[in-house]
Amino acid sequence: MLDSLEIVVLMEDSVPMDGALVAEHGLSFFIRGTRDGREICGLLDVGQTPELLAHNMRELGVDPACLEFVVLSHCHYDHTGGVASLVRSVGRRELPVVANPDLFRPHFRSAPVVSALGVRPDDRREAIEAAGGRLLLSREPFPLTDGLATTGEIPRVTDFEGGPTGFFTLRDGSPAPDQMMDDMGVIARVKGRGVVFLSGCSHSGIINMLRHVRALCPGERMVGLVGGLHLVNAGREAMDRTIEGLREFDLEWISTGHCTGFPMQARLLEEFGDRFVPLSVGRRFFVGA
Ligand SMILES: [Fe+2]
Ligand SMILES: [Fe+2]
Repeated sequence: MLDSLEIVVLMEDSVPMDGALVAEHGLSFFIRGTRDGREICGLLDVGQTPELLAHNMRELGVDPACLEFVVLSHCHYDHTGGVASLVRSVGRRELPVVANPDLFRPHFRSAPVVSALGVRPDDRREAIEAAGGRLLLSREPFPLTDGLATTGEIPRVTDFEGGPTGFFTLRDGSPAPDQMMDDMGVIARVKGRGVVFLSGCSHSGIINMLRHVRALCPGERMVGLVGGLHLVNAGREAMDRTIEGLREFDLEWISTGHCTGFPMQARLLEEFGDRFVPLSVGRRFFVGA
């Protein structure tokens, strides 16, 4: 387990009023764990524009050279954009880049007009490897260090999440619905405190994800949730049932933004009050003694 955990929001869709930080539609979290006096640093996702990520990293005092891993939560361009460039800036040989084996599949939507949304050509497998990355692709939970791991693929267990995504892939040369089975998050377990869960867009459904986290960490207290909930186009019932589902985890804090959508952010504020913190670039979370 970790002795402490710090999360810094490097990229998100909003910024504080003052200061030089920049925002774009995308997400990136810096993760710093400590254990037995050693630091372990990495990223969950990289936003969509490497120059903007690099700018915020400089402003927030995050040196790329300290990064020891990059996790990509799913294929979307606003989470994987410029990953090859980021890997190059780290300057390590064989920097672990952890993701699902389906990350590089064709991925698109056709409404309002056909557009590719998956990993961009500049960030294809070969480009990440040429930049010094070492792809570690797994469907199962992947350990990053003792107390830090990915969730692996998320079982769809609720009856209100995991329906049609509106995204497509190609199977045997034909368009087919894409259920986003590559979607995953990061679990951090902090000694004496409990579990913090970091998600990208929660395309699997946040309640499916949290139930999977609980199954992987039985009996451990759930402390915090940070990420996007992808309820931006959700109807009232999906929002109601998500709020109801979140109650069962009794989280100390919930910090969402990005693709969560304003109506759901408002519902979370109404339901959780001070325990709800809207995400924005530069926000820091610390969990530890
Ligand atoms: Fe996203
Ligand atoms: Fe996404």
